[in-house]
Parts: sequence; C-alpha cells; structure tokens
Amino acid sequence: MTLFITFEGPDGSGKTTQIQLLAEALTRRGQATLLTREPGGTRIGNAIRTVLHDRAHVEMSPRAEALLYNAARAQLVDEVIRPALAVGTVVLCDRFADSTLAYQGFGYGRNLAELRLLIDYATGGLTPNLTVFLDIDPAEGLRRKQGDANAEWNRMEDKALAFHRAAHAGYLQLAAQEAERWLVVDATQPVATIHAAIWRTVLPRLPISESTAPTSQPR
Ligand code: TMP
Repeated sequence: MTLFITFEGPDGSGKTTQIQLLAEALTRRGQATLLTREPGGTRIGNAIRTVLHDRAHVEMSPRAEALLYNAARAQLVDEVIRPALAVGTVVLCDRFADSTLAYQGFGYGRNLAELRLLIDYATGGLTPNLTVFLDIDPAEGLRRKQGDANAEWNRMEDKALAFHRAAHAGYLQLAAQEAERWLVVDATQPVATIHAAIWRTVLPRLPISESTAPTSQPR
C-alpha cells in the first residue's frame, strides 16, 4: 500500500507550515516520510523553477508555462516520488498536478482536457491518495505572503487578483468533483487546529507498522 499526499492552496495559505508539521508528526511516529515540493525537488526541477518564477519572464506563454511545470513534475515523479513510494515511504508533496489544473487551467480559462492529457503524460498516471486543500481567500493569502519577510515573491504572484480568484474557484470545483480524495480545511484557523484536522484524516490511512500493529495473543 502506498501513501502519496499532496498539499494545495492559494499562495500564503500556510501549506509549507502544515506540510512540515505533518512530516514531523509522521517521523515522530516512526513512519519513513519524504517531503518534497513542486516545482522543484530535483536538480533539474529546481533549474526549471528558476525559469518559471523569474519575474523578468513576463512574456512566458501559458502553454510554455504548462509544459515547464509538467517537465519539472515528470522529473520529480521519476527521480524521487515513485522510487520512494516503491519502498513504502509516505510521500508529501507541496503542490502537484492539481496546481496545473487550477492555475494554468482555471486561472487562464484554458482547456482542462488538454491539460489532463499533459499531466497524465508527466506523471505516468500517478495520482495522490489524499489532497489537502488549505482554503483561504486569495487576496488574504497574498497579503499574508507580502507581510512575510522570508517569503520568495515569484512571477505567478505578480499576476492579477482575478487570475488567483479563478484558480481558487477552480480548486473548489476540483475538490467537489472528487470529494473522497480531497480534505478542504479553513486556512484562517489557528495552525494547531489545522494540523489536528489534517492528522485526524491521515492517521487512519497510514500503513500499519510493526510498532503500532496489535500483537497477536497466544491461543
Ligand atoms: P510556491 O512554491 O511558493 O507554492 O509557488 C509556486 C507557484 O507556482 C504558485 O504561485 C503556483 C504556481 N504553480 C502553477 O501555476 N502551476 C503548477 O503546476 C505548480 C506546481 C505551481
């Protein structure tokens, strides 16, 4: 049994904080866990991230953008995610294919069916078992991020609020279409409350390890 969990949400929704808290909780429990992110997580992916997020690249076409996010994704799936899942490691990924549907699809109002084909090619059909959506109004998320001196401000965040609002509405549609895969959490709640809600959902899905399995009783 493999467990692949992705985190999605508007910029400034607290994904990075929550994914780290979940990774720490899993590790404390003795669960082998790998934390990675998109775009990035590999040398090639990080090089693509630099191209994608360079605020000087204002001329980047939405199709080139979709291809680059998916090139980084293909590398991450092949080099990192599939090998980890194959040895029973729980994989946590900060953004994955749903970000492409939300931003390059709903954000630009482009054909979702075409993007789904591209995603399928990039991932070889790998889909998350659980996707946590940290729900926040995109304007509030961007405000939070602007107030964070350590945050990296990228080319996507320069886009108009209408783009971010369309992506946010798209996320909610995707979550509604596949409710069994998505956990939607109100990201304006305190950090500990959000973490507790995520932990309650993740715990029953964990592989039973030797240390946590009930010991068999002699007859
Ligand atoms: P982050 O690393 O700070 O979350 O920034 C990633 C940005 O890239 C964020 O604005 C969303 C965007 N993005 C897409 O537009 N499409 C994608 O497929 C992915 C993975 C991210």
